[in-house]
Amino acid sequence: MILYTEYKERREQLMAKIGSSTAIFRSAPVAVMHNDVEYAFRQDSDFYYLTGFNEPEAVAVLAPHHEEHRFVLFVQPKEPEKEVWTGYRTGVEAAKEKYGADEAYPITELDEKLPKYLEKADRIYYQLGRDRSFNDTVIRHWQQLMATYPKRGTGPVAIESTNPVLHTMRLVKSAAELEMLRKAVAISVEAHNHAREFAHPGRYEYEVQAEIEHIFRRHGATGPAYPSIVASGANSCILHYIENDRQMQENDLLLIDAGCSYGYYNADITRTFPVGKTFTPEQKTIYEIVLKAQQDAIAQVQPGNPYNLFHDTAVRVLVEGLMDLGLLAGDIEEIIKEEKYKPFYMHRTGHWLGLDVHDAGVYKHGENWQLFQPGHLVTVEPGLYIGSDTQPVEGQPAIDDRWRGIGVRIEDDVLLTESGHEVLTAGVPKSVAEMEQ
Ligand code: GLY
Ligand code: MN
Ligand code: MN
Repeated sequence: MILYTEYKERREQLMAKIGSSTAIFRSAPVAVMHNDVEYAFRQDSDFYYLTGFNEPEAVAVLAPHHEEHRFVLFVQPKEPEKEVWTGYRTGVEAAKEKYGADEAYPITELDEKLPKYLEKADRIYYQLGRDRSFNDTVIRHWQQLMATYPKRGTGPVAIESTNPVLHTMRLVKSAAELEMLRKAVAISVEAHNHAREFAHPGRYEYEVQAEIEHIFRRHGATGPAYPSIVASGANSCILHYIENDRQMQENDLLLIDAGCSYGYYNADITRTFPVGKTFTPEQKTIYEIVLKAQQDAIAQVQPGNPYNLFHDTAVRVLVEGLMDLGLLAGDIEEIIKEEKYKPFYMHRTGHWLGLDVHDAGVYKHGENWQLFQPGHLVTVEPGLYIGSDTQPVEGQPAIDDRWRGIGVRIEDDVLLTESGHEVLTAGVPKSVAEMEQ
């Protein structure tokens, strides 16, 4: 449970960083599927991080220099005849009481009220978003204030992105956030462990998907954090395979990449196992390479280590393994430098995880990689994919058919701690023996 005091602390932290500027955040819009049918609402992560407010058509303004109203919310007003269709709204009054806004207005008054929060600001902090008409609104206000600047001698001289400041904050997870993340992980761990027992030859991928998502929802998750990937046989070589409509066969591997979203916090787990409980020798060989790559990579997730180290570690283990099998040949340094392994391993080894599955935060500052610090949360997810159409790069050995149709990925969520790391998703086994049970 994230308390309102925490949202306030986050706003204070952000305001301390933007000085005498004004920051503007836009909620997510209502997303229309077709005609009058809407998708389930999903709040914008930055907006949610700062407010905890979970409704569309809202704008949050942070004006640290304003004498009375440092935090202002523009919200949809109470309108019972609309709410009967689309759900209860907090309304203007409760926006102050429940969400701690110093002032709140109906969203219809944005144009009228916004200038008074901008006219003494040095800058506008605003991240241009997908909503072009709202981008235009912000730019129009800026333009008007610049036109009248000579009369005041004050006003924002630039629009600056909120991302560098806010996303640096989001990178380090608080205790309350970790509680949510652990809950998302616990549900997802249970789903994976059940799925492994449930899957067997003859069943369809979508049956496994249904079991997983049933567990998500039953425990109060809003649903999958991303479309669940349940990929058997050669489908395991398609990174974003989500059709999930194939019948599983005796000698298939099954790659499941699934995690739930709980209170907007996400888990992201992948396991690969033999549907018929026994790896073929080729499957086992590839699996063991990926497992070693993942374990060695996780060992590099340590405070103070640069972000790229675990990826580079995984790549080296994968390349060594492929060279041992004769699937890559030549000088290992050259293979790595020229990325000759890419037909088999085409994605990076991880990403930040949090309110977004691919969470906010930079990986690199110019030439320097981000250094891990306690509170960072990262996925570690190496894989090897030898599809029916995979072609080696020029000059590399031909691929023997016996390797084709094998795709393996193993993904855990790893939290940086003071002394090292904690694999949050350790509750899903991954040893060869356990994958065959
Ligand atoms: N499931 C999305 C990812 O692993 O990045
Ligand atoms: Mn994943
Ligand atoms: Mn991932």
